[in-house]
Amino acid sequence: MQCNALHEAGYDIVVYDNLSNSSHEAINRVSMLIGQPVEFIKGDIRDAESLKKIFSAHHFFGVIHFAGLKAVGESVAKPLLYYNNNVSGTITLLEVMKEHSVKNLVFSSSATVYGDPESLPIDESSKRSCTNPYGQRKLTVEHILEDLAVSDDSWNLIALRYFNPVGAHPSGEIGEDPNDIPNNLMSYIFQVAVGKLDKLIIFGNDCPTVDGTGVRDFIHVTDLAQGHVAALNYLDKQASLNEDSMTQNSVGFLPINLGTGKGTSVLELVSAFLDVSGQAIPYQFTDRRAGDIASRYASADKAKTLLGWQAELLITDMCQDTWRWQSMNPNGYNVS
Ligand code: WQD
Repeated sequence: MQCNALHEAGYDIVVYDNLSNSSHEAINRVSMLIGQPVEFIKGDIRDAESLKKIFSAHHFFGVIHFAGLKAVGESVAKPLLYYNNNVSGTITLLEVMKEHSVKNLVFSSSATVYGDPESLPIDESSKRSCTNPYGQRKLTVEHILEDLAVSDDSWNLIALRYFNPVGAHPSGEIGEDPNDIPNNLMSYIFQVAVGKLDKLIIFGNDCPTVDGTGVRDFIHVTDLAQGHVAALNYLDKQASLNEDSMTQNSVGFLPINLGTGKGTSVLELVSAFLDVSGQAIPYQFTDRRAGDIASRYASADKAKTLLGWQAELLITDMCQDTWRWQSMNPNGYNVS
């Protein structure tokens, strides 16, 4: 998804991925969609030698850093894995970038860093506090980036705080294919829709929300990808301004929300799925999930003001595009 958006924006890309939670088939499909092979190198972000080889062979403008594990439950069960992969991996990447004077980074952060918000909508100055190791490691990386920016003012470090990404590429060729049991609400809805689960368990119907179920800011992955292009374009523009004015004004550490600014409840999402697919999702209420927050949605003003970006796609688009992906690929990327 991101590769398509970057290609359409005119960027040349190199994809580096250990495929621990993705598939090479996704790369094949991106190549098919953009009409040319994607340069792909299989490797681990913790492998400094492998990274050094790649940085020596290319002249990179910047890095978009997606390489991180993202399952809340797994982070509780295996905290060391999240320190090692998400934190040590990032440190290795930053050290190699520094060694090769590549100082532009767009980091895949998360609205999870906000924890349970004191007020809504959540803007970038809202208090950060996390209730699970996954979110805490995202915050750890943000602290690393903040400290790095203070220590060396040549860094340009944008942390994009995703709210709840859902959806799939409109072609139906690219979508989420969780290697293990699904993590997020939309994945569960689709597992019920294709008959892999017999009903959706809804965690709590006693939240202080429109209908008692949890409220989230669901954002289409296509909008999310465009947000990354806008962030890279912003860094590119800053670099050009510096070049023209012979100055070295750096961006430093810059957190930006990527959300729609609208909240949608669990039941509203289930209803939107029915409208789009004609398929009712059987569900059963149960207790609220430990650590769950009732309501979280973004203030997206900063992204609009600074990056000239705002989400365009609707909940129905997210349902339609995921349904198309799921229907065309009931077994995900497993094409055997
Ligand atoms: C959304 C709502 C649940 C599943 C996410 C990701 C996490 C991280 C942070 C990226 C909540 C309810 C869910 C189900 C349900 N992602 N729900 N039944 O809680 O915002 O956390 O954002 O950084 O990986 O999980 O999203 O999709 O888990 O839950 O009722 O089977 O849906 O209670 O209200 P959440 P979610």
